[in-house]
Amino acid sequence: MSQEKAKKAAAAAALQFIKSNMTIGLGSGSTSEFFIEELIKKTKSGLTIQTVSSSKRSEALAKKGNILVKNIDEVTNIDLTIDGADEIDPEKKMIKGGGGAHVREKILATSSQKMIVIIDETKQVKTLGERALPVEIIEYGHLHTEKKLNIAGFKGVWRKNTDGSLFITDNNNYIYDVTIKSLTQKPEEIHSQILCVPGVVDTGFFFKVAHTVIVGHPDGSYEIIN
Ligand code: A5P
Repeated sequence: MSQEKAKKAAAAAALQFIKSNMTIGLGSGSTSEFFIEELIKKTKSGLTIQTVSSSKRSEALAKKGNILVKNIDEVTNIDLTIDGADEIDPEKKMIKGGGGAHVREKILATSSQKMIVIIDETKQVKTLGERALPVEIIEYGHLHTEKKLNIAGFKGVWRKNTDGSLFITDNNNYIYDVTIKSLTQKPEEIHSQILCVPGVVDTGFFFKVAHTVIVGHPDGSYEIIN
């Protein structure tokens, strides 16, 4: 519950960066959903914005609240993307994709003028890699892609739904969660090596993307890191 309070504090604090007539990129995950709920309240009291979404789920939530959601290719400028993270280090390098949306999230964030990351304090780490690294992989030949990753030293598990079926992303691909804890390479090297394997769409590593981080605390306070 206190983690939820921390996420809500960070999400609500992000509102201060939203100005009228902006095009806002909507992230995915629970903290982003708290932000979308705040945005819905704000538009009901007169704020005019348009948005672009990183997932079908966030899009549905925004539309339910009567927020205008455009297709990313219909807009030429995205002022600001607000999104969560699974891990963030002191250099603002991140692991994302806990919700399986990192490919669209990265396209959206890197197409935006600015990205603000909203997190609860448990997401701050000294070194990335406590959590597995989500890797999106296309369905065609995915077991061969897995074999190539394993030979290159990257072992993981296919993400599954609670009924045991394979998790499918909004891009109709699979997620392979790679254990990187025991690896000695730098995140940038791991990212490049995984990206070289045919069938891999992208990893959940985000480098040089986050501009500002809002960290929520369980007591409802927050801090802004620029
Ligand atoms: C979605 O794919 C992720 O990148 C999320 O941004 C990340 O998992 C954070 O999720 P929570 O806000 O639910 O912790």
